[in-house]
Amino acid sequence: MPLVPMRQILDEAKKKGYGVGAYNVNNMEQIQAIMQAARETKSPVILQASKGALEYTSMVYIKHLMLAAMEENPDIPLAMHLDHGPNFDLCKKSIELGFTSVMIDGSIDYAVKDDKGKHPPRSFEDNIKVTKEVVDYAHKFGVSVEGELGTLGGIEDETVASKVQLTDPDQCQEFIEKTGVDALAIAIGTSHGAYKFKTEPKLAMDLISDIHKRVPYAALVMHGSSSVPAELVDRVNRFGGQLAKTMGVPVESIQEAVKRGVTKINVDTDGRLACTGAVRQYLAENPKEFDQRKYLGATRVAIYEVIKSRMISFGTAGHAGDYAPMSLDDMKKIYASK
Ligand code: G3H
Ligand code: 13P
Ligand code: ZN
Repeated sequence: MPLVPMRQILDEAKKKGYGVGAYNVNNMEQIQAIMQAARETKSPVILQASKGALEYTSMVYIKHLMLAAMEENPDIPLAMHLDHGPNFDLCKKSIELGFTSVMIDGSIDYAVKDDKGKHPPRSFEDNIKVTKEVVDYAHKFGVSVEGELGTLGGIEDETVASKVQLTDPDQCQEFIEKTGVDALAIAIGTSHGAYKFKTEPKLAMDLISDIHKRVPYAALVMHGSSSVPAELVDRVNRFGGQLAKTMGVPVESIQEAVKRGVTKINVDTDGRLACTGAVRQYLAENPKEFDQRKYLGATRVAIYEVIKSRMISFGTAGHAGDYAPMSLDDMKKIYASK
């Protein structure tokens, strides 16, 4: 099966009311772990690379690792997605590289820094402008586009809008209609990274329902969706780590979000925690070992376990064979006919 447009994976998930995880990847072990989980649970999957991941892998390595994932797993619908594309140029480069989907993070102006070194948020109008530019380009190649309305903490806390700005439901319909995006990231109170909440998480669940009611056709995306399980944090700390006490988004809240209309669920931090805990434990227990395949192999097992559990909880499991995959050419024709 060739790489499929993310649009198809999300459309199919929306039809049946389940969520699809989009998992951030940076290296081979992570990709192998996620694909093993997808294979065993028969789940469609979105592998996503951030700007940082593209830099870390000189772009070409991540491309070939994703292609290897596709080649090894012909029965799994797999989309290759740029996460938090900061500008048109990186979206264009990613499309040239073979990504079947890109996110343009138009809510923040990454090109500008104020005197405190922070990036300002973009106005609604400017967000529409940069997002539409990417959509017009990407759709010519059949590539899907995710846009964002509102801001999250974490990677976006280098911005003036470091306080989370929840999505304004009044803006969603206009944004989607004027830009033509395939997926819309909404801010409902989550943030990126391990330190999301100190106490019980409070998410704007009603906001999801409100947005879904206004734009029922839109695939809504929930960023900052790691659950930061205590056992993963504890494992890191038991073997020399120093992570502070923290809470993420409970899996039950994600399930509730899916029921209310979220389709794409972004998870990075849980994989990082699983990976770090496994390395720390392995090296602590095997101080004489210096074969990296041993401790990197242990990371693969740990990541596989957490992602497999997410695929089951999000409802993705069992849906890999539900539909015939579309090609970018098929999508190109659909976009051209609109
Ligand atoms: O949302 C951001 C992801 O967690 C990617 O993080 O920029 O450190 O690769 P990164
Ligand atoms: P987490 O940091 O919660 O895993 O969020 C990842 C994310 O939103 C990637 O875009
Ligand atoms: Zn994100």
